[in-house]
Amino acid sequence: MSEPTTIRWEQDADGVVTLVLDDPAQSANTMNAAFTESLDAVVDRLEAGIDDIRGVVVTSAKKTFFAGGDLRDLIRATPEDAEQVFAGTLRIKRLLRRLETLGKPVVAAINGAALGGGYEIALACHHRIALDTPGTKIGLPEVTLGLLPGGGGVVRTVRLLGIADALLKVLLQGTQYSAPRALAAGLIHEVAADRDAMLAAARAFIDANPESRQPWDVPGYKIPGGTPKTPAFAANLPAFPANLSKQLAGAPYPAPRNILAAAVEGSQVDFENASVIEARYFTELACGPISKNMIQAFFFDMQAVNSGAGRPAGVPARQVTRVAVLGAGMMGAGIAYSCARAGIDVVLKDVTLEAAERGKAYSARLLDKALAKGRTTAEKREALLARITPTAEPADLAGCDAVIEAVFEDAALKHKVFQEIEDIVAPDALLCSNTSTLPISELAEGVGRAADFIGLHFFSPVDRMPLVEIIKGERTGEEALARAFDLVRQIRKTPIVVNDSRGFFTSRVISNFINEGVAMIAEGVPAASVEQAAAQAGYPAKVLSLLDELTLTLFVRISRETRAAVEAAGGDWSAHPAEAVIDRMVEEFGRTGRSGGAGFYDYADGRRTGLWPGLAEHFGKKDVEIPFADLKERMLFSESLDSVRLLEEGVLTSVADANVGSVLGIGFPAWTGGVLQYVNGYPGGVAGFTARARELAAAYGERFNPPALLVAMAERGETFTDRRAAG
Ligand code: NAI
Repeated sequence: MSEPTTIRWEQDADGVVTLVLDDPAQSANTMNAAFTESLDAVVDRLEAGIDDIRGVVVTSAKKTFFAGGDLRDLIRATPEDAEQVFAGTLRIKRLLRRLETLGKPVVAAINGAALGGGYEIALACHHRIALDTPGTKIGLPEVTLGLLPGGGGVVRTVRLLGIADALLKVLLQGTQYSAPRALAAGLIHEVAADRDAMLAAARAFIDANPESRQPWDVPGYKIPGGTPKTPAFAANLPAFPANLSKQLAGAPYPAPRNILAAAVEGSQVDFENASVIEARYFTELACGPISKNMIQAFFFDMQAVNSGAGRPAGVPARQVTRVAVLGAGMMGAGIAYSCARAGIDVVLKDVTLEAAERGKAYSARLLDKALAKGRTTAEKREALLARITPTAEPADLAGCDAVIEAVFEDAALKHKVFQEIEDIVAPDALLCSNTSTLPISELAEGVGRAADFIGLHFFSPVDRMPLVEIIKGERTGEEALARAFDLVRQIRKTPIVVNDSRGFFTSRVISNFINEGVAMIAEGVPAASVEQAAAQAGYPAKVLSLLDELTLTLFVRISRETRAAVEAAGGDWSAHPAEAVIDRMVEEFGRTGRSGGAGFYDYADGRRTGLWPGLAEHFGKKDVEIPFADLKERMLFSESLDSVRLLEEGVLTSVADANVGSVLGIGFPAWTGGVLQYVNGYPGGVAGFTARARELAAAYGERFNPPALLVAMAERGETFTDRRAAG
């Protein structure tokens, strides 16, 4: 006769209550209104029946333990909702506080992912046991969504680990730990091999600890490592700035700052007051604009992208078992590693066996590092390496059901290597090129089976970069597109799908950022200001240092090729103001970038030693008065505006792909939520962005003129939403 509830109560004859988290309305448990009501009822019942209760086990009937805050609610919270959000947060905290002060042992039996709110529930338990499965992930990743853990996560991790470890291991990077690594980091107490063992261990804890208290409720408790008031803390202080500078560097990321403040301020008061402080800092983030951008990009858009909105639905899923990687250079070596890590057999081919072996040695080096850090085992290392066969013989590619080509960026060479192997690999093998600039449709002309040919654009370093841009050529078939999508998912990366065009989406959009930075040099802006503007706009790489990495000669070549293509098609090529600067750097000063030993920066032994003083002499002007805010916005606008043009041109077909691809692939600042979410979230929305683009066009050049699509959307009061997913 009771109401359906998200927490099931199971009490045995021994007086042990198992609270089974099992929301009947969702596939995962979240901290929604129904959960809060159920928790309230359960805590009342525990307190009322406490004399008959020996202990409590909290576990879940879902695949995950508990998924955390309900992001569908959080993304809607505005500053007007602040009071309500604050009150709701405090309510959860107080319920969890009553659970941990019951006077009876409470054990979290973590049967799968316990991230965010899930781990916060576990933190309110006296003992945490996690099941050792690949799905068990433990941590507080709120910072990656522009939030802080508002369910007691800051207050309790600070009291569990100390301020320094709580910040660095858990709160500021949002690290997600496997069960064994969570144990080593002190986040849990035990790891169990299976569910029965986990429940038995929970019982054993209850039997042995009839009157459990949290460490911080034991009289005389002190925060490990001290607080800013104590001398012990001062000893840890020097470690802070270096570790935090990356998170806190000028860029508009309020979450790390609020987390830091909540941790430090909360450490100096009692638990109750610390909880209120945490709730206030949480509310400010949850009701502010940046968490919305980040939740949109990293949760909703990411879900849309990975769930296969861009994959042709009718094609049955297929797994690749043996892949040929052509070219064992920097990219080929990384691609081989990523495929082998996913359990795929790799034949790694280069012109000589030595070159192919060097490519394989790259995997050995990565694995040695992982081994040293305890992230892999010697057996796993051997197994992975055994999957990679280096060779120089085309015949060794027999039986490969996919090919990924990563030889030099030269169309004739790429044609040649495909022709060499086309009749050797499986007759229906998927044929992919990792070109970063060459149009896929043109490359396909030199390949026998154009329908099976597709672009698979990886990013460097491949083992760490999560994105792959799939490029559909004019003649690419639906089956190849589906198989390419499945292959990217199989190697656990995130696939975006775009139509073919010079530079595709990512390479074209990032060149706007670089050209805009260099245009500022042409205007006489000091190079240090250009670099600082990029950093403060939130870019992970500064603009001139990025160009030095990519090499200036690459940009000279790309603009020549683009100019030739535009003119061949009867179009007008209007030179970007950056071109003249890059040309002079290469031709007059011989400065081609880091690999050439000199670029916008000077280098010694491959390391940057400082900006080249010649920049001020040859390009600097005395009377430039460009507002610093304009420098930052010009970089961001240049990329967003061109992304809108790519939507108009049909190269991009999905808003989610644009947002996710820009942040994961080319370093568009994460706080914006991506190139199109930046437009949505700009003050005044799409209309505000459009008006600002017109101002920038008047001041800095026609390239900032808003495209027709943007003007029309502004007039209709529309925002960018995922049209492809919406059909
Ligand atoms: P790389 O110069 O490091 O490697 C190219 C490799 O191809 C060399 O080991 C070379 O010996 C080998 N090779 C040449 N001819 C061959 C043949 N006939 N058969 C087999 N192997 C042959 O170049 P990298 O940087 O790995 O780039 C490879 C491709 O990936 C290029 O198309 C590049 O545009 C693209 N790309 C590069 C990115 C980067 O960040 N470097 C990013 C994304 C794509």
